[in-house]
Amino acid sequence: MTKKKTKKTKLYKEKSRFKSKTNRQILEEIIRVDHAGEYGATRIYDGQIFIFGKNSKIGKTIQHMADQEQEHIETFEKLIIKHRVRPTALLPIWNVAGFILGVSTAIMGEKAAMACTVAVEKVIGEHYQKQAEMLEEDHKKLKSTIKKFEKDELEHHDIGIAHNAEKTIGYSILSKAISLGCKTAIAVSKKI
Ligand SMILES: [Fe+2]
Ligand SMILES: [Fe+2]
Repeated sequence: MTKKKTKKTKLYKEKSRFKSKTNRQILEEIIRVDHAGEYGATRIYDGQIFIFGKNSKIGKTIQHMADQEQEHIETFEKLIIKHRVRPTALLPIWNVAGFILGVSTAIMGEKAAMACTVAVEKVIGEHYQKQAEMLEEDHKKLKSTIKKFEKDELEHHDIGIAHNAEKTIGYSILSKAISLGCKTAIAVSKKI
């Protein structure tokens, strides 16, 4: 090996030694909470489709979002195994709570169902954005997955807006309540 090459290899090794690492606890919390959130999202859309039916116009729009949520949850199911992360113990609660939220907003009507989507996806989109910033160079792939999902969630948010979510009667209160619920679910699912 030439002198120049040896120097280069040495430099590379030095650099990779100092490659910034994501704190293990942060990594675990990110995967655990995202797995929980995506699971909850699939249950919300299950509940809404249960009321509207798969073949209604609104049902098809919701199904498109539900299909993406399915891809998201499957990705996090694999990540839970790959990184040996304990899933949240609250999954049975998110199973029921998500479904009830989906059913009840759908019963209130199409606009309310979309208001639910707007509120949930706004919180999740911002949550993903924060997470992407927390991941270091050692988890570049996860970072790009999260950024991709963030884009999907924002698309869902925009679909909700385009379907007159904001014209729901009592939109402001409904939206604030759902958003608070999501933030609370995020906070507890990280730890428990
Ligand atoms: Fe999602
Ligand atoms: Fe979504």
